[in-house]
Amino acid sequence: MAVQINPSILSADFARLADEAKAVSGADWLHVDVMDNHFVPNLTLGVPVVESLARATDTPLDCHLMIEAPDRWAPQYVEAGAGSVTFHAEAAAAPVRLAREIRAKGARASMALKPATPIEPYEDLLPELDMLLVMTVEPGFGGQAFLDIMLPKIRRTRELISKHGLELWLQVDGGVSAATIERCAEAGADVFVAGSAVYGASDPDEAVRALRAQAES
Ligand code: DX5
Ligand code: ZN
Repeated sequence: MAVQINPSILSADFARLADEAKAVSGADWLHVDVMDNHFVPNLTLGVPVVESLARATDTPLDCHLMIEAPDRWAPQYVEAGAGSVTFHAEAAAAPVRLAREIRAKGARASMALKPATPIEPYEDLLPELDMLLVMTVEPGFGGQAFLDIMLPKIRRTRELISKHGLELWLQVDGGVSAATIERCAEAGADVFVAGSAVYGASDPDEAVRALRAQAES
């Protein structure tokens, strides 16, 4: 299982997004946090910014929708140019229908779980997904401390993926850094979102390389 490092532009300079995307040329995906001030108590960006960013960079966009009514909005992010669209299990009215629609429109379909949402009720949905995101902080803000108590959930999710023989990617997001990435990798994660650990570094691309080396070790 190949390690992927996805810098989160939430910690970048929003006035220079194209340059900030180019500053992490070694990234696998660019993680774009969409927040609506309803599902989470913070507001970031929407479809027009994703559209512009998709034109400005060759790095594929991994859109993490922390919004209500993803059933209505997620398809628009595929049309805007996202290569992967993640909706939250807690917000989706019809997750299977939504995942199928995202795939039918040509993007990877992904579902996220907040820290208090268990994976077990979603076991039968896993074949409908290309990626499962286990949040390792409460969604809403960058720079929060990694929740160690999520490690067992990462491990259980990896076990379910293996049990069903699926190709599903397992992403972690929140507090991922040099201090925590090895534990996430050891628990079974293979896609790592890092905001402050990448854009807070003096050389973001070097931070991506270092995180990748640690996750692969
Ligand atoms: C938090 C977002 C994360 C955030 C991670 O709700 O989903 O993607 O940018 O930031 P760090 O890596 O700083 O915890
Ligand atoms: Zn995110």
